[in-house]
Amino acid sequence: MGDIDWAVEDIDISTVEFWARPWVEREAAFAVLRRERPIAFFAEPEVPGFPPGPGYHAVTRHADVLTVSRDPETYSSAQGAVSVLDLPPEMNEFYGSMISMDDPRHARLRRIVSGTFTPRMLDRVLDDVALVARELVAGVRGAGEIDFVEAVAGPFPLIVVCDLMGIPPGEREMVLAQSNVILSGGDPEFIPEGTDPVTAFLEAGQQLAALMHELRSERLARPTSDLTSALVNTTVDGEQLTPEELASFFILLAVAGNETTRTAISHGVRLLAENPDQRELWAGDVDGVTPTAVEEIVRYASPVTWMRRTVTRDTELSGQPLRAGEKVLLFYGSANRDEDVFDDPDRFDVRRDPNPHVGFGGPGPHFCLGAHLARREIALCFCEVFRQLPPLELTGAPVPLRSSFVNGIKHLPVDVGRRGGP
Ligand code: HEM
Repeated sequence: MGDIDWAVEDIDISTVEFWARPWVEREAAFAVLRRERPIAFFAEPEVPGFPPGPGYHAVTRHADVLTVSRDPETYSSAQGAVSVLDLPPEMNEFYGSMISMDDPRHARLRRIVSGTFTPRMLDRVLDDVALVARELVAGVRGAGEIDFVEAVAGPFPLIVVCDLMGIPPGEREMVLAQSNVILSGGDPEFIPEGTDPVTAFLEAGQQLAALMHELRSERLARPTSDLTSALVNTTVDGEQLTPEELASFFILLAVAGNETTRTAISHGVRLLAENPDQRELWAGDVDGVTPTAVEEIVRYASPVTWMRRTVTRDTELSGQPLRAGEKVLLFYGSANRDEDVFDDPDRFDVRRDPNPHVGFGGPGPHFCLGAHLARREIALCFCEVFRQLPPLELTGAPVPLRSSFVNGIKHLPVDVGRRGGP
């Protein structure tokens, strides 16, 4: 698989060059790591303005990702689950959300939030989600060649998260731009010219937090039916979110809920264009195939490439000694291609079943809070694509995001057919 025969010692996943390689080459490198060095040590990527860190262990096999995810006492999320670097205190203010916490702080926040982020609350918004999908897809009908990310996959989850939180439509562009900065991994397309990435990152957090502080005051004064109102007006076991917790939860949702779902949908469109037989299977039996197809898209796309944990006590993982304080990165994309778990893992199979992928994280306290919503969003989006558009064809190469963290697609040129055309 892939054009490259990697020698294990030539693989360096800490370089920008590695993540600029085509998907098949990266996947081939991870296949070699799984086989020959499943817990491999790497020096840390260089980040301007930060002292070099001590390095990390890359966990690439499915079984090891499960072991680590299930054991938060040995593998802590508290020193930055989404960052290889330990987060400096000024960043913790905006980015120190529950994804980067352990119990009891994590459990307290998750309890308050999941009291409101319930399937019932979500069911209320799903009608709106269906409508957003219908309108966005209708908006591109007959438009010929479009960028599917810009026209549909990008705005869709953003509008959903903004509507869920009650963000005024006029602020959506700002939320999109700032969440792009936060997840850009320094990709110059998303960082304002002349700004250094760390400053841009901090400013993005400040802007999103300011928006949330404003909304909080409004909802306290005049409650509505949105999630923000529920969050600021609900008390669970005598506990409420502080304004700072609300702001960093919103930043987490804006970031975790947007880019991930956008990435899944974009890869889905790409994969169906590249595998017309799979499109035919799915479009021919939408109700029957959607549940497995959605899981397969999340497995195959693995929108979140890795999450980090920090070892709290000396231990051993599949025979590899790990010392307290060392960092481990859980490579979900690699685990999702593990030959020991998935038959023919490089095949995109919309009816794959069973499909025990870890695209939403492994089993454990941090399993994706938005998994139910994300699955519905993906399902509703493809439902509309099949209902309203002809089979989509790629008209150019997808442009990947240059990031080790999100397996994003920045641009996806497709032909949606001409109005009145064949
Ligand atoms: C296809 C789309 C998505 C993917 C692939 C995805 C993936 C993930 C992953 C890998 C984690 C981390 C698990 C860990 O550290 O163990 C996570 C956590 C989280 N996700 Fe998602 N996610 C998606 C969509 C969403 C959506 C739509 C939302 C909300 C609107 C959301 C909200 C969250 C939150 C709040 C957490 C943190 C949970 C915690 O720490 O307790 N995600 N997600």
